[in-house]
Amino acid sequence: RKKEPLRIMISGAPASGKGTQCELITQKPDEAGCLQQVHIINIKLYGLVHIAAGDLLRAEIAAGSENGKQAKEYMDKGKLVPNEIVVAMVKDRLNGPDSREKGWLLDGYPRSSSQAIALREFGFQPNLFILLEVPEEILVERVVGRRLDPVTGKIYHLKYSPPETEEIASRVTQRFDDTEEKVKLRLQTHRQNVEAVLSTYEDITVKVNGSGSKHEVFAQIDGSLTQLLEQKQEKLGTV
Ligand code: AP5
Repeated sequence: RKKEPLRIMISGAPASGKGTQCELITQKPDEAGCLQQVHIINIKLYGLVHIAAGDLLRAEIAAGSENGKQAKEYMDKGKLVPNEIVVAMVKDRLNGPDSREKGWLLDGYPRSSSQAIALREFGFQPNLFILLEVPEEILVERVVGRRLDPVTGKIYHLKYSPPETEEIASRVTQRFDDTEEKVKLRLQTHRQNVEAVLSTYEDITVKVNGSGSKHEVFAQIDGSLTQLLEQKQEKLGTV
């Protein structure tokens, strides 16, 4: 019987650490020097394809496409981009040969019950839904201090995760929606939609305290993923 790859969703408020945790989950073993040995072993097993709705949209904006132009208007206001643009974009990535073969780690999607329904209708069901819980007062500080390296795509924070070298520090950029004013709008949108999504995946949800350091948060996620892999392994062994 063929081993089925993992299908994981990660969700949480703006700046709760989704992208940061996805970096840690999908990190290549040779880049994981800062992690403990036990994590390195697990990372080799995960090998998931990271699919982030926000990153897909920002790539469309960078490409100057019609979809990108429309999406930016909504993102500027902290609102959800219409399903006509987002749904097909995510579906195509989930259907990619790499995602089918290695499994996926879906970040920031679904964000509404209609997106969750569309996914189910396309036949995409996750094994695990990770919810990062972070108090709102921490989120604003995380947003305004966030910086991105345009060369590697890596996420930094001026205080919590500063760039490793002067060279990186001189080239990092800020996201156009990372202002205090815009994050408040994004938080409002999140509050309006989160319950509908959570109720869809209640039975497979694991709540993670996202307010510790990024490695503390990762240790919790790593524990859940390891457990899930072991359960799947046991099931395979019994048939
Ligand atoms: P998206 O890009 O998904 O933004 P978001 O949900 O607001 O989340 P962020 O990317 O801001 O934060 P994150 O949780 O990944 O945090 P990060 O790890 O970077 O979406 C942007 C927009 O696109 C939306 O507003 C919407 O318009 C549109 N969109 C996206 N998906 C959509 C969908 N499905 N449907 C319709 N529209 C959609 O961390 C943040 C900062 O904190 C970093 O600086 C990091 O270094 C730091 N940090 C992280 N973890 C820790 C820690 N444990 N301790 C200290 N600092 C930390």
